[in-house]
Amino acid sequence: MSSVRHGDTNTVQSNAIAFSEANAPAALLSSHSGSPSERADALEEYLIRRLDDVWIAKSILYASGDLDPSTVPSKVPPPGTRALMGDDPRLKKMSDAPTLAEFFQKRLMSKAHLLQSAKLALDSGHDEKIVLACLLHDIAVCGLIRADHGYWGEQLIAPYVSEEISWAVRTHQALRFFPDESVGYEYPESYVRWFGEDYELEPYIHEEYRQARKHRWYMTARLITLNDLYAFDPSVEVSIDIFTDIIGRHFKQPREGLGFDGSPSAHMWRTMISPTRFL
Ligand SMILES: [Fe+2]
Ligand SMILES: [Fe+2]
Repeated sequence: MSSVRHGDTNTVQSNAIAFSEANAPAALLSSHSGSPSERADALEEYLIRRLDDVWIAKSILYASGDLDPSTVPSKVPPPGTRALMGDDPRLKKMSDAPTLAEFFQKRLMSKAHLLQSAKLALDSGHDEKIVLACLLHDIAVCGLIRADHGYWGEQLIAPYVSEEISWAVRTHQALRFFPDESVGYEYPESYVRWFGEDYELEPYIHEEYRQARKHRWYMTARLITLNDLYAFDPSVEVSIDIFTDIIGRHFKQPREGLGFDGSPSAHMWRTMISPTRFL
């Protein structure tokens, strides 16, 4: 429950939470049959946390879909509070010069998927660049954003890996939808379950596949899909440490730390470090 006291003062109420119930996630409201002020508190809780006098707001992208962004009014910290502009106290603190391994340890969800896919590539005797590509292939899903994850992933890692690896990370998103008998890759059975038998690919995915098919690095991206474990074993724990040497040889870790080296994707790493900064 929020510490904002609705009805306490008009200022606090109008400045803090002006979300209408028309915008509210249905599940959120249905679970709240309380008074109007209690329901307003629930809405506030959804987009904004207040810890002591610090106001922590989610970017609209986190809530878009549950809420209609075109109808959410702009929000500013209510009097007496400050907006969070740095570390989120609910997250593990990152060092001043974060490494890739530190992001794995402190900011990625479902990292077992990445680690096990890379281990499979390693055990299968693939080239080190393939192992690293597998280790990074879903880094966007795990740490930043799910939609069009191949493209976000490519941009995130491009300054630090060979163009071949970042290209393959982008392209695996499209290649996952297309079988390749020559290496024994079939359309994922999980995709049938998740997207339905009648799912039709969008034109840009077809085009990406068409371009990739004739590209000299096709097999690099294809090998990501081959090692892309979607049925991974939760009981198997793979440590990032077994990839230390491969990362060292193929990932240009910036001395200043990821996020602070002024690279074209530094802001994306900083956003993962502090995803709830007000600006
Ligand atoms: Fe993927
Ligand atoms: Fe994957």
